[in-house]
Amino acid sequence: MTSSELARENLSLKVKRRVKSMLGPWGIFFEGFLRHPVMVGSIIPSSRFTVIKMLSRVRWDECRLFVEYGPGVGTFCRPVLDRLRRDGQLIVIDTNPLFIDYLRQTISDSRFTAVLGSAADVEDIVRAHGHDHADYVLSGLPFSTLPDGVGPAIAAATHRVLRPGGAFLVYQFTARARDFMARHFTRIDSGFEWLNIMPSFLFWGWKDDAA
Ligand SMILES: C[S@@+](CC[C@H](N)C(=O)[O-])C[C@H]1O[C@@H](n2cnc3c(N)ncnc32)[C@H](O)[C@@H]1O
Repeated sequence: MTSSELARENLSLKVKRRVKSMLGPWGIFFEGFLRHPVMVGSIIPSSRFTVIKMLSRVRWDECRLFVEYGPGVGTFCRPVLDRLRRDGQLIVIDTNPLFIDYLRQTISDSRFTAVLGSAADVEDIVRAHGHDHADYVLSGLPFSTLPDGVGPAIAAATHRVLRPGGAFLVYQFTARARDFMARHFTRIDSGFEWLNIMPSFLFWGWKDDAA
């Protein structure tokens, strides 16, 4: 490589770094999307309107373990930690190492654990962290673009890991996730949030007390 090519490459690296730091978490999210567009499924994190509406049905006083699938850059993590009881725990699971590294570097709360892995392994992950079940599971996964079989497997594992009375909270740009949920959850409440890029379907699947 000639010295002028080297100088050009250094400049381009510097510009990329500068743009990323100006964009903050949005820059990291966009980079995660560029690396794995199908797995991330969105170029921009959820809006605060989606966060507030989605979390509004959680009974925080009864929540000891909250699990989140696909936290990305942590749009939901801080609001969950703000509401979570002092002896509660938040475990987030993401397949993208860029996001997990970012979360570990930016969130220092003893109740928070970021796991690099798949939501399909939620039962092992919950057990490995000393719990028998989760009270709530939140999903930002792009169900409609996950590889064949993964969505149904995640919905089944989530139903098994939840305690009776607990809930599976799902937001997505399409209503497809509801089909996966409906195989296991008999009571599903629905909502919609326009103030999000793209507008989102919201679902709360409740695990029967008798289950
Ligand atoms: C649309 S983004 C959600 C971002 C974030 N929750 C928000 O509201 O802005 C989807 C996330 O799911 C993650 N993901 C995709 N497949 C997964 C899987 N099988 N298990 C865990 N995370 C997964 C992606 O890496 C990405 O972070």
